[in-house]
Formats: sequence, C-alpha cells, structure tokens
Amino acid sequence: MRILLETPRLVLREFAESDAGFLVALDGDPSVMRYLSNGTPTPLREIVEDHIPAYLAYHRASPDFGFWVAQDPPSGDFLGWFHLRPGPGCPDAEPELGYRLRRSSWGRGLATEGSRALIDHAFLHTPATRVVAETMTVHAASRRVMEKSGMRLVRHFTADWPVRIDGDEQGDVEYAIAREEWLAARPQEAAPPPAQ
Ligand SMILES: CC(C)(COP(=O)(O)OP(=O)(O)OC[C@H]1O[C@@H](n2cnc3c(N)ncnc32)[C@H](O)[C@@H]1OP(=O)(O)O)[C@@H](O)C(=O)NCCC(=O)NCCS
Repeated sequence: MRILLETPRLVLREFAESDAGFLVALDGDPSVMRYLSNGTPTPLREIVEDHIPAYLAYHRASPDFGFWVAQDPPSGDFLGWFHLRPGPGCPDAEPELGYRLRRSSWGRGLATEGSRALIDHAFLHTPATRVVAETMTVHAASRRVMEKSGMRLVRHFTADWPVRIDGDEQGDVEYAIAREEWLAARPQEAAPPPAQ
C-alpha cells in the first residue's frame, strides 16, 4: 500500500478493504464519536459499503487528496486516520484537513504532528492556496490541534449535522491557514512555487 508521508511518529498510508475492522473498532468507541455522532457507533454496513469505497476512490482519483490510515511506525499498529481533500462542492485550492484517532493515542501530540505534515504536503504538492478545518465550537481538543498546526479561527457558523450532538447549540468553527501564512512561518526556506 502506498505511503503518502512519514513523520517521526506516524506513517500515513493508503486505505485497503481489509481496514474495515479497524474502522469499526475506531467508530465503535463513544468517546471517539462524541463530537461526530453524539457517541453513536458507525454501522459496519456503512463502513464497508460507503466509507471504504469512498476512500479507495480518492486514491484512484488523486495521489495527494483523500483519507489515509495513520500507523505507528515501528509496530504498524492502526492509530486512526487523517484526511486532506476538498470538502463537498469546494475547490481543490481549499482542501479540508480532518483527523480521527483511537482513544489510546490521544494526548501525545499525534493529531498535531499529522496535521502539520498534511498542511506541508498541501502547500508543497497540491495547488492549495488555503487549508481549512471545521469542528464544533465546544470541541476544545480539535480546536487546539488546529491552533497548534498554525491555523487561525476565521468564522463561526452552524453546520447542518444529521443528528443532535450535545453542544451543537453553540455552533461550529472554521479554521484556516493560507499559503502566505504557511510560508511566513518558514522564513528560513526558499518559497516553493504552487504545485500545478
Ligand atoms: C481531537 C483529536 C484528534 C486530538 O488528538 P490528539 O492526538 O490527542 O491531539 P494533540 O495531542 O495533538 O493535541 C490535543 C490538544 O488539545 C488539548 N486538549 C485535549 N482535551 C482538551 C479539552 N477537553 N479541553 C481543552 N484542551 C484539550 C490537549 O491538551 C492538547 O493541547 P496542548 O498540547 O496545548 O496541551 C482526538 O481527540 C480524536 O481523534 N478525537 C475523536 C475524533 C474527533 O473528534 N476528531 C475531530 C473531529 S473535528
């Protein structure tokens, strides 16, 4: 399976059909799904028939946008996943970053490490002019990951969640980092041109 990138503590690799069991376990943890479905697990059928085929379709369509499994480098253990891809109806120039990790992996800076690597990837290898990320206003850990990854709060809005989630009355937030901001944080490096 193709590896997108490696960091000191993460390997991001393409999905395979055989990853369904890992996703069932990940989405079966109510603490993982707290800010996504109010804790309800994702059904196996949805993972097998909708999610995995969608991830594999991304891999066929583009080497640089999609969803990737996050693995522990020495053991190969499944840690969760990250995504970088334009949200529905959004331009390729503004891909959306996302992440979902196993409870046992939280609190070690892994979401931030993967997010920074994907933001670098977006500006080095795709036509992105801006990377965006969204979460619930009350999801403090996810907002902190966005901040630590160099993104800044750009707006409050109300997402159209399919289910009621505790805290959704406070709405949602969008964070973003523009190519210029990313470059400004790397002043020691020559400015790479946008990828075509
Ligand atoms: C959100 C998530 C990805 C964070 O992963 P992680 O690897 O623990 O994140 P990091 O360790 O890189 O950073 C987390 C930061 O949030 C902080 N944090 C965690 N819980 C917090 C809370 N309840 N309130 C405030 N800050 C919190 C941590 O202290 C840390 O900040 P610090 O480094 O300044 O101390 C992880 O909890 C997860 O996968 N959750 C389930 C799926 C999900 O909600 N995904 C996001 C959907 S938008």
